[in-house]
Amino acid sequence: MPRYRLCLLTVALAVSGCGGPFPQSTLEPRSDFGWAIDHLFTDIFWWAAGVFLVVETLLVVTLIRFRHREGRPAPRPTHGHTVMEIAWTLAPAVILVFVAVPTVRTIFATAGEAPADALKVDVIGHQWWWEFQYPELGLVTANELHLPLGRPVQLSITSADVIHSFWAPTLGGKRDAIPGRVNRIAFRADSVGDYSGQCAEFCGASHANMRLRVVVDSDSGFGRWATVQLAGPAAPAPGTLAERGKAVFARSACLGCHTIQGVSPGIIGPNLTHVGGRTTIASGLFPNDSAHLASWIADAPSLKPGSLMTRMQPPLTDADIAALVAYLASLR
Ligand code: CUA
Repeated sequence: MPRYRLCLLTVALAVSGCGGPFPQSTLEPRSDFGWAIDHLFTDIFWWAAGVFLVVETLLVVTLIRFRHREGRPAPRPTHGHTVMEIAWTLAPAVILVFVAVPTVRTIFATAGEAPADALKVDVIGHQWWWEFQYPELGLVTANELHLPLGRPVQLSITSADVIHSFWAPTLGGKRDAIPGRVNRIAFRADSVGDYSGQCAEFCGASHANMRLRVVVDSDSGFGRWATVQLAGPAAPAPGTLAERGKAVFARSACLGCHTIQGVSPGIIGPNLTHVGGRTTIASGLFPNDSAHLASWIADAPSLKPGSLMTRMQPPLTDADIAALVAYLASLR
């Protein structure tokens, strides 16, 4: 391939990455934490751009002016030029001060304690899903973290097994989830929305499938959500498929791993008390609809390698799975 075509192809490939949308971009901040990082990044970017411009200009000028020409003597080298030596020592030092001061300031600002009225959420990483506990509200959910708009929140992050890392890029920086240790992050979301995140520390076969969603609700929306979560699951109407599904749930291995408030106490897998109200299943991997739920129940490891939810033995019949799906969908 001719060199110019290779160049064009490279540029085209690079530009094709600029189209978006970017659901997990730190460059679209939606919290005070996100904005602090964004401002720091922008400041340092312009300092770096200035340094690049000066250095490259000097380089190009030097290359052109002092290039070898037939019959011309070698340029005279400069030794021990005091003014130049002071200048190139001082200039980088001054630039580094302008980079270091805002950096240190941002580190302290984003690592500080949350205000006393912050909503506290305990975040627990599991292979490969996220558990969210709201100790003040007495509420537990999984994979979809609901937060109120404009109110400070403090996430206390830990792990039940190996090291994970909680990362919702538009809202804040990463925090490692380490077993036996609690790391905190505090921020205040400034826009209602549904933001995606991702485990950011390699944690085994389905690390890439350990996603999460953060739903920032209006204050009243968050209140409504919390009220629904606290209410416990509605009992399925007699004679419905969902009622049969509840019976299937109660006689199969499901209840050994999953909590459904008032029905089963399992704590190995995600709490399913209001699973029907979530938008995704399998830690943000699939939309929460009947088809995906049925495939997930039938054979989770084929959809999420290494999943602790194995194929049930003996396998559930298609009728049992359809009934389970109806029951889980009714848990809103
Ligand atoms: Cu959890 Cu990677």
